[in-house]
Amino acid sequence: MKMWVLSCATPAYPAHSATVAMPTLKSPSSTSQLSFHRHDSPFVPEVTFSSLFMEFFTNPLQGNLVVKAVDSLHSEFRAVDSLVAVNSSRVLKAFKNARVGSHHFGGSTGYGHDEAGGREALDLAFAEIVGAESAIVRSQFFSGTHAITCALFAFLRPGDESIVLDKFDYQLLAVAGAPYDTLEEVIGKRDCGGLGSLKDFGVEYREVSLDEDGGLDWDALKVALKPHTKCALIQRSCGYSWRRSLSVNDIGKAIKMIKMQNPDCLVMVDNCYGEFVESIEPPAVGADLVAGSLIKNPGGTIAPCGGYVAGKKKWVEAAAARLSAPGLGIDCGSTPGDIMRTYFQGLFLSPQMVGEAIKGSFLIAEVMASKGYKVQPLPRETRHDIVQAVQLGNRERLLAFCEAVQRSSPVGSFTKPIAGTTPGYASEVIFADGTFIDGSTSELSCDGPLREPFAVYCQVSEWLILVPF
Ligand SMILES: Cc1ncc(COP(=O)(O)O)c(C=O)c1O
Repeated sequence: MKMWVLSCATPAYPAHSATVAMPTLKSPSSTSQLSFHRHDSPFVPEVTFSSLFMEFFTNPLQGNLVVKAVDSLHSEFRAVDSLVAVNSSRVLKAFKNARVGSHHFGGSTGYGHDEAGGREALDLAFAEIVGAESAIVRSQFFSGTHAITCALFAFLRPGDESIVLDKFDYQLLAVAGAPYDTLEEVIGKRDCGGLGSLKDFGVEYREVSLDEDGGLDWDALKVALKPHTKCALIQRSCGYSWRRSLSVNDIGKAIKMIKMQNPDCLVMVDNCYGEFVESIEPPAVGADLVAGSLIKNPGGTIAPCGGYVAGKKKWVEAAAARLSAPGLGIDCGSTPGDIMRTYFQGLFLSPQMVGEAIKGSFLIAEVMASKGYKVQPLPRETRHDIVQAVQLGNRERLLAFCEAVQRSSPVGSFTKPIAGTTPGYASEVIFADGTFIDGSTSELSCDGPLREPFAVYCQVSEWLILVPF
């Protein structure tokens, strides 16, 4: 869920659109400010509604559906608050153990050797939070795709046998169906023009398809491993597939099954969009490495760039050598300016932002399902990532939905997202994100590939934006 194309040569929407109602207060006592207090529910603001759903569907009753959804999700929201409390205290404990101090916020330049211990403290805290031996959290990771790539290349080596025989061993096995779109060229599933995919290096690839219900196919997984399967890739979140996201428990069960068949097989979890959605992370259930992006969950909407790899020390070092160079490892690489502070602050705030995003996903599922749309996950189903997918059924609706989200965003509300080609993606993609960090999706964003079933994938930490404006 990546890049977007904007048409901003001329305003896409007038500055004061007649279709966007200004907030109208129910309370006669105030006419200039929104009030977020109501006696029966702390979650429902006292406003009449012109939500993006109402704007999108132009049915005046839609606003009331949003109110009803917020009210009826009271107990789900309470459970999310408990999760936030647990995860926030885990982060706090890790910060204390790493003795995080303001001296760690200083920037560094050049090689980064002159740095005051910030990277080390952040790595320590991050490793503890995800239950790993070791972690590298670095601005030099461009994105989730880049961090995942470093982790995969850390594990996988060309098999001598396969090169001699000009026949590949099945070394990389994706156990949860197709991996995220941008990994296709990394793996060599889609031709990257000889630029150095895993396939170019002699690593063959195989997939275990998902079960009919969109979950793991346990029967197939039981017999999927070969002696030469060197790495199993598990994607926790749904990506752009109409599938279930995996619980950490399920990931643990899959890892056990994998290691029982082939104890030497290393397990790598694509953790994008899964961080802090549960109270434990995949290294705690045996993942050898996990990787993800800081402009998603663990950056708390504040980190301006970067990614992470965490897991077994040996393999984190190998991933670091892929990021930099063998021998340089993790001591190199400066973090100029104010970035270190944003990493600590973003990580600290992340459980709260993730909590808001889970609430946003409950809300979207509730409202869109009540309008008759297919949603994944289902309303009120336990969440394992922050993504809420909705099948809109055709191109026009998908474009219109993204335009409506863009209009509701704090940044670039006057612009119109345009579908287009994006590096790493085979399909045309549309992307609406009026966010403060370019390409960040954790505030209020939605996007989707222009292909069947024309599903939109929403991430909404600022879910209150959906309700009043
Ligand atoms: C499950 C999953 N994995 C990997 C990625 C790739 O992350 P990035 O866009 O940061 O490269 C995404 C992006 O949305 C994703 O959803």
